[in-house]
Amino acid sequence: MKKIVFLLFLIAASCSAFGQGGIYQIIPQPAELFIAKGIFEINNETKIYVNGPCRPEAQFFVDWLNAATGKKFVLQDADGHLNTNFIYFSTNSDVSKAHDVKMPKLPGDLSLIKFDQGFGEYKIAVDPRGIMVSANFNAGMFYGVQTLRQMLPVSAESGLLKLPYQLTAARITDKPAFIHRGMLLDCSRHFMTKDFVKKYIDLLAYYKMNVLHWHLTEDQGWRIEIEKYPLLTEVGAWRTEADGSRYGGFYTKKDIREIVAYANSRHVTIIPEIELPGHSSAAIAAYPELSCTGEKINVQTEWGVFKDIYCAGNDSTFTFLENVLTEVCELFPGKYIHIGGDEAPKFRWEHCEKCQKRMKDNKLKNENELQSYFIKRIAKFLEGKGKTIIGWDEILDGEIPSDAVVQSWRGMAGGLTAAKMGHDVVMSPTSHCYFDYDLDAIDVKKVFGFEVVPIGLTPLESTHVIGGECNMWTEHAPQELVDSKVFPRLLAFSEMMWTFSENRNFDEFNLRLTTHYDRLKAMKVDYGFPAVPAILKASLNADGKMQVDIERNLSDTKILYHFILRNGKSVAEASDVYVNYEKPIEITGPTTIEARVYYKDKIYSKNLIRSFDPHKAAGKEIKLANKPSDFYMASGMNALIDGCIGSENFRDGIWQAVQGADMIAVIDLGTTQEITSISTNWFHYGNAWVFRPSHLEYQWSNDGIEWKKLADVLPGIAETEKGEIIVPMRSTFPKQSAQFIRMIAHNNGPCPAWHDAPGEPSWLFCDEIVVK
Ligand code: ACM
Ligand code: ZN
Repeated sequence: MKKIVFLLFLIAASCSAFGQGGIYQIIPQPAELFIAKGIFEINNETKIYVNGPCRPEAQFFVDWLNAATGKKFVLQDADGHLNTNFIYFSTNSDVSKAHDVKMPKLPGDLSLIKFDQGFGEYKIAVDPRGIMVSANFNAGMFYGVQTLRQMLPVSAESGLLKLPYQLTAARITDKPAFIHRGMLLDCSRHFMTKDFVKKYIDLLAYYKMNVLHWHLTEDQGWRIEIEKYPLLTEVGAWRTEADGSRYGGFYTKKDIREIVAYANSRHVTIIPEIELPGHSSAAIAAYPELSCTGEKINVQTEWGVFKDIYCAGNDSTFTFLENVLTEVCELFPGKYIHIGGDEAPKFRWEHCEKCQKRMKDNKLKNENELQSYFIKRIAKFLEGKGKTIIGWDEILDGEIPSDAVVQSWRGMAGGLTAAKMGHDVVMSPTSHCYFDYDLDAIDVKKVFGFEVVPIGLTPLESTHVIGGECNMWTEHAPQELVDSKVFPRLLAFSEMMWTFSENRNFDEFNLRLTTHYDRLKAMKVDYGFPAVPAILKASLNADGKMQVDIERNLSDTKILYHFILRNGKSVAEASDVYVNYEKPIEITGPTTIEARVYYKDKIYSKNLIRSFDPHKAAGKEIKLANKPSDFYMASGMNALIDGCIGSENFRDGIWQAVQGADMIAVIDLGTTQEITSISTNWFHYGNAWVFRPSHLEYQWSNDGIEWKKLADVLPGIAETEKGEIIVPMRSTFPKQSAQFIRMIAHNNGPCPAWHDAPGEPSWLFCDEIVVK
C-alpha cells in the first residue's frame, strides 16, 4: 500500500501551484503549502488507517472527528488493500525523502541542530483519493493532526461538521523553527482550575506550542501539594485579602498527575517552576524557619518583590528544598525544572549571621556569589535526579552549571550572554513576551515582530536559542481575564516560534488571524482585541490651537465619545451622552475625553480615557539630559510637552521615565513669553521602585546659557508613602518673561534601606511639563 500512496502524491505535487494557500488559513503558517487541482470528499464511508507507532495521534484525530461530526469512525490498521476514500496516518522512516521536498533552513547551520523525537516534522497530502499525514515521530504526527483540524471548517470545532465535506487538494511540508515553544501560566498570583489548565494545554497544542511553564509557587500563594510539608498548602495556598476574604487553592498530587498525563498526550511538556531563593513568602509564611529572621509573615496580598527570602546560611533550608524538589521531580517527567532565581533582594542575607558565615566559609565575595552558591547547590541536587535547571537571567550573576538553561526576561541581553557562554536559552523579553502587559505596550503586531534570536550571535551560538515563551503573569488577571490577555496574541507568538522567518508576513498573518476568531469562539476562548483599537492624540492645528484626533488602529471600528471631569477639571461640558466621533475635537483647556470602541461583535474591554491640557510649551522644543528608558519612552522625546496628562496607570504610554538618574529637561518656547506657572505630576509607587523626586527645580533663561531660579518645589509626600500615588509638584509665580525653561527633578536615589530592594536604582516618572 505504501507504494500506491507514494505514487499518488507525486501526481498531486505535479499539479501544485505555489501561493494559493488562501484556501487554508493555518496558524502557525506551515513551511510549505501547495494547493493542487481537485478535491477530496470526506464522507460516511471514509476509512481511517494508521501504520507504525503513531496510533495515539491518529486516534486523537479520530476522536476529534467523531466529536466534530457526531459519527463513529474507527481507526484501522493499514492492511495494504487501500485504494480510495481514506485518511491515512503513516509513520515513515524518513519523511523528507518520502516526498523529496526541500526543507527550509534552520537558523544557523542545520548540521548543528540537535534533532529529537519532539522536533515535529510532518507532511500532509490531500488528493482526490485520500489524505495522507506522514511523520517520522509521534510529535510530528500530532502537529499534522492539528493542521488537518485547521483545514476543516470551524463548524467542526463546535461539533457541527456536516458530511460529506470537500477538501481542496493540497500538499503541506512543515516543521518548527524552534524546539521550545512555550507559555508561562502563573497560577500562583491567581489560582486557575484544573479544567482551565487543561483548556490551555489544548489551546497550546492546537497552535503547535509544546511547553507549559507552570508557575506554581509565589509570594502570594503556594499551589502544589507536597506530602512532607503539608503546611505549604494548608497555610501557603491561602491569603487573607484586604477585605478580610480568603483567597487561594492548590493542586493535589492527583490533579497534577492528571494534568501531566493530559499534557503528555498532547505533546506538551510541563515545566514546573519552584521559585527560589526569592518570591518565597508563601513558603516562609508556612514555615518561618526557612527565612533569615525566622519571624512569622503572612502570605502576601500585595504585588511586588519582598525581602524575606530563603536563608542561604541554613542547611535546613536546603534539606527542605531538596525534599520539595524530590516530590516535584516524581510528578513531572520532563527534563527541566525551573528554579526561578529572579528578583531576590539581598537585604536579609546582608544582615544574617548564618548567611554571612556561609559566605566566609565558602570564600564568597558578596551576596550575588551567595545566590550563585544557592543555585549551584540546587542544580547539583537536581542533576542527581536526572534533571536540568532553567532559571531567569539573574542566575547569570554568578557561575552556573554548564548545562543550565537561561530564560532571558530583562530584555535580550541575558540570552545573548548566556548563548555566547554556551548555555541553551529560552527568550521571553518583557518587550514582546509579557502578555500581562496591556495592548498599548504589546499588541499582536509587536509580538509578531519578536526576533527570537538575539542580534550578535554567530550561527553556532544561535543554535543555543532553543525557543521562547510568552509569559502570562496574573497579578492583574484572575482566571476569567486570562483568555482576553492571551488571545489573540498567542497566535502571533506561535508563528514566531514555529514558522521560519522567510515564510512570515504580518499583513498576510493578519488576514489568517481574522479567520481564527470563530475557531477561538468555538473553543470557548473569550479572546480580547489584537491591538488598542484607537488612540487619542493631541496636535496643534493650523491656527496653533490644540485638537484631539481619535486615530483608528483597527478598521471597522465605531467610536463614540464624551467629555468627563477628571480631578475636578474640564473646560468642555461633561456629559453622560456619547456622541459619534467624526472629526478632530478642538480643546481650549484641561479636557478629559472618554471614548468607547466597537469592533466586530465586541466592545473594547476598557473605555479609552485621556486627559489633555493645552499650554504654552505644548508642541515646542525640548531637550532631555538623560535618555528616557526604552520601556517608558511614552510618545517619544517630546512626550513631556505633547499635551497629554498621565493616568493612574504608569504604564499607560503617557508617563515617561528614567531609572537611576535625574530627569533634566530644557524647553525652548521659540519666542519670549510671559509665564506664571509650571506644573508637573510624578508617579509614586515604592513597590515598583518608582519614587517622586526628592526635590524639583524650575529655572528660566533667555539665552539657554544663564539660568535663574523660578522655584524650588518639595514633594507633598514622604518616600515611604504606600500605594500608587500621583504627586503634583506645581509652582506659581509673578509674571516672568522667558524663552527657555529648565526643569531639574532630583532622583530619590537608590531604593532606601527600609525598602524590599534596598540599593536598587529607582525610577522617576513624569507625564507633562505644563507651562502657563
Ligand atoms: C520575572 O518577570 N520576574 C521573571
Ligand atoms: Zn540567612
